[in-house]
Amino acid sequence: MKQLQEKLEAIFQDFHRHPEISGKEFRTTEKIKAYLTEWGVSLISLPLPTGALAQIGFGNRPVAALRCDLDALPVQEETGLLYASEVPGCMHACGHDFHMTSVLGAALLLKERESRLKGTVRLIFQPSEEVNEGAVPVLRTGLLEDVSEYYGIHTDPEIEAGTLGIREGAVMACPDHFQIRIHGRGGHGAQPHLSVNPIPCAASVALALQQAVPGKISPFSPCVLSVCRIQAGDAWNVIPGQALLEGTLRTMSEKDRATGILTIREIAEHMAKAWGCTAETVFFSAPPPVVNNADLAAFAAETAQSLGIRVIQQEPSMIGEDFAEYLQEKPGCFIRVGTGIGPGLHHSKFRADPSVLSGTAEFLSELVFRRLEKMSGSQHGKES
Ligand code: NI
Repeated sequence: MKQLQEKLEAIFQDFHRHPEISGKEFRTTEKIKAYLTEWGVSLISLPLPTGALAQIGFGNRPVAALRCDLDALPVQEETGLLYASEVPGCMHACGHDFHMTSVLGAALLLKERESRLKGTVRLIFQPSEEVNEGAVPVLRTGLLEDVSEYYGIHTDPEIEAGTLGIREGAVMACPDHFQIRIHGRGGHGAQPHLSVNPIPCAASVALALQQAVPGKISPFSPCVLSVCRIQAGDAWNVIPGQALLEGTLRTMSEKDRATGILTIREIAEHMAKAWGCTAETVFFSAPPPVVNNADLAAFAAETAQSLGIRVIQQEPSMIGEDFAEYLQEKPGCFIRVGTGIGPGLHHSKFRADPSVLSGTAEFLSELVFRRLEKMSGSQHGKES
């Protein structure tokens, strides 16, 4: 275990030093492929510019998948770590370096037990998670059609290192992104009666959205609406022709999501009309909420406890995760890995405690190993 830990720390530090932003994970992809090849793990050709697929086992069903993400963020690192990012303005501030290293560690451990696997483990090294553009292209390759269950992890700086957060049901939100363009009519700041100023209209829309959207959704169902950007005007004495509002809607179910989207569109349209403006509302595509399967969450918690790992009931989060796309296809479980209390995800001082890398790798390998045993057992049951 000590040897594995040392090996994984070296891999983790290398990833951390060389972060790459979404869609540009070229070096990262090459490194992953090189490690897997060195360890004798078979690669599956993935027809995408970045990312990798591999498998342990001989392609027999059942197939359980372990997924991790590769991309970093456009953040200037301020951790002061010896292995801090060497790329200006780019940092692994969301722990994806930790995720990749843990899945690589699980690959090493599973490779040692390959002949005893009761099926196949597919390893997904997914690009572009931060921009929600990675999971769908990977799924569209059709290379995951035989997968029966999906597992993924995410670092959590609010949980102590050495503890896992596991919960059934909705654990991460649908991260909708909306943009509202309000059209008025520009003119002289001294003559508002001869123009239609979109700025007070935009301000009213922003305030109304903050109240109306959560007001349409049951208080027992989490919902967040944040207007995060307002842009209008170029001069102090010129009424601009338009204003732009941007923000995010976070919901935990498709029903609430639909209600939220409808409410945003209606408020924008009607409020704009009341001010003599018009509004154009656009929603950009976003993954659904991450909903963990109850049986698989319980199985993951039991597996962790049997390895002596502490498990807590994870707090749901309103952050989004495109791991949700895999769960649209098949059941699975998304698990939070405590990596030490510290600044939050996406913070310039975020750091994941590498001391729990080998423990996380062991947990992941044991989880899928036991799931394959369990699934193949129940398949036999059905046949007889
Ligand atoms: Ni992340």
